[in-house]
Amino acid sequence: MAEQRNWLAVVVLIVYALVGIATFSTFINFDNQYTPVQAVRMRENDLLSPSVSPSTASPGKKQTSKPALPTKNTSTSSSSNLTSTEVPLIRIDPSRSNQTHAPLHSAKIDHSTQKHTPLPAITVDPSRRKALAGNKEWKQMQDFPRVKQPWVYNKTAADNFRKELEECCGEDPVVTKKNHPVNSTIQYDAEGKSRLYVSEAVARRFPDENPLKKTYARCSMVGSSGILSGSGCGKAIDSADFVLRCNLAPVAGQFKADVGQRTHLITMNPSMVQNRYKVFRNKTMKERFVRDLSEYGNTRVWMTPFSYKFGTSLSYRVQDVMKEFKLKQQMVFANPNFTGPVNTFWKRRGVRSFRSSTGMFLMTAALRICEEVHLYGFWPWHFDRLGRNLTHHYFDNSKVGWAHNFPHEFRQYQKLHNMGVIHLNTGSCT
Ligand SMILES: *[C@@H]1O[C@H](CO)[C@@H](O)[C@H](O)[C@H]1NC(C)=O
Ligand SMILES: *[C@@H]1O[C@H](CO)[C@@H](O)[C@H](O)[C@H]1NC(C)=O
Ligand SMILES: *[C@@H]1O[C@H](CO)[C@@H](O)[C@H](O)[C@H]1NC(C)=O
Ligand SMILES: *[C@@H]1O[C@H](CO)[C@@H](O)[C@H](O)[C@H]1NC(C)=O
Ligand SMILES: *[C@@H]1O[C@H](CO)[C@@H](O)[C@H](O)[C@H]1NC(C)=O
Ligand SMILES: *[C@@H]1O[C@H](CO)[C@@H](O)[C@H](O)[C@H]1NC(C)=O
Ligand SMILES: *[C@@H]1O[C@H](CO)[C@@H](O)[C@H](O)[C@H]1NC(C)=O
Ligand SMILES: *[C@@H]1O[C@H](CO)[C@@H](O)[C@H](O)[C@H]1NC(C)=O
Repeated sequence: MAEQRNWLAVVVLIVYALVGIATFSTFINFDNQYTPVQAVRMRENDLLSPSVSPSTASPGKKQTSKPALPTKNTSTSSSSNLTSTEVPLIRIDPSRSNQTHAPLHSAKIDHSTQKHTPLPAITVDPSRRKALAGNKEWKQMQDFPRVKQPWVYNKTAADNFRKELEECCGEDPVVTKKNHPVNSTIQYDAEGKSRLYVSEAVARRFPDENPLKKTYARCSMVGSSGILSGSGCGKAIDSADFVLRCNLAPVAGQFKADVGQRTHLITMNPSMVQNRYKVFRNKTMKERFVRDLSEYGNTRVWMTPFSYKFGTSLSYRVQDVMKEFKLKQQMVFANPNFTGPVNTFWKRRGVRSFRSSTGMFLMTAALRICEEVHLYGFWPWHFDRLGRNLTHHYFDNSKVGWAHNFPHEFRQYQKLHNMGVIHLNTGSCT
């Protein structure tokens, strides 16, 4: 009898192990195949070279010191059908562009029941189609639907969705003296049971009140995908009342036409402090950071000190340097009582990954801050719809990570777009 039970236990264990391996390996495969890593990789040449993605670096070719530019040719070429089939974007009224923040409800929101016109057919160059046959990423892209055009904001749907978010993730997106006062504890959201006691010194790092209240009529949320290269979306992005960007993605110079420049909130990954600024080991590194940050004008810098323990002191260091150099930019710390539940929320909705990406967290926060959220530069593949290669980021071609599942996240953006909750822009703006 006991022997039989042992035997049964062994069978059960084996089955569990097999299921576990199967789940794990699909997860890993999926991610390795398709998911870009956060912009930990830098745009500077010295830090760029070791990390060109295998999918785009040809084996024999020596890596050049400059970031690979996309092969996409944006000038109107003779094979005009290739360039004209891209779904056009809705033009945004430039008169609304203003560095000061337009009050909520100032936007003229069109509630008319606009009919959705059928999407134009996409003609992929036959030789390109042949070359891509069997490419897994390309195949996956074909299986994704295209989104409804033109996009129309649906206030009812957006308010319903906000209500859902309020129920799951209603805490302030950032830590304040109010939500985490002196003598309280902070629970890290990505690291098991780690907690932090809020001393008076710690609390001094937090603002009194949540500075990110729902105030803005129209926001641009800018991801870093290579799809932005040559998009000409800079003006459209900058015409919003509030612009959010990820991981110190560059805006000046050559990038301005495609990604704009105005920035009101930009994230910085704690690991960037190590990789790019060498934990500010000397003055040069501090000055480099200050110079990089100056690109963004009067922005807020969003960091996540309370997700992983290693991020706490690194985030504090950044805040201290900002103070030391008397920068006008301000630091905000993501509230783990916001990011934790948000991560769970998207998992429940089918985003199968270790953790939501920065873009996903920020998009969710943007829905709390803005009436209309317009997404640019969110695209999980290294091809556009015409099969033209894209770099990983619009500013570099760093390697693909494993922690996030960008195709799954993209599916959520598509759903929200079709509901009229957010506007997902993946086309050209010109
Ligand atoms: C485009 O990417 C594919 C694989 O992702 C690669 O094999 C091909 O060489 C690239 N083409 C160009 C023109 O860079
Ligand atoms: C893009 O296409 C135009 C017109 O065909 C051509 O003149 C130009 O050289 C191309 N640019 C690149 C970078 O291929
Ligand atoms: C472009 O499409 C038109 C019809 O839509 C067709 O007549 C023409 O041959 C196409 N041109 C190319 C270069 O494919
Ligand atoms: C931009 O903001 C300034 C200062 O608040 C205001 O005087 C100006 O009229 C605004 N411009 C537009 C186009 O809203
Ligand atoms: C807006 O969304 C609501 C709720 O999802 C839906 O009932 C309504 O039909 C939508 N309106 C339009 C114009 O699509
Ligand atoms: C925090 O706790 C310390 C020690 O128990 C106490 O002296 C102090 O008054 C408390 N501060 C606040 C703001 O509650
Ligand atoms: C500062 O640190 C960086 C990175 O280690 C190093 O390359 C640079 O030479 C240092 N600069 C000075 C002035 O010590
Ligand atoms: C934050 O979340 C933790 C659980 O992760 C919970 O124990 C704590 O009470 C929450 N704090 C606040 C201020 O809601």
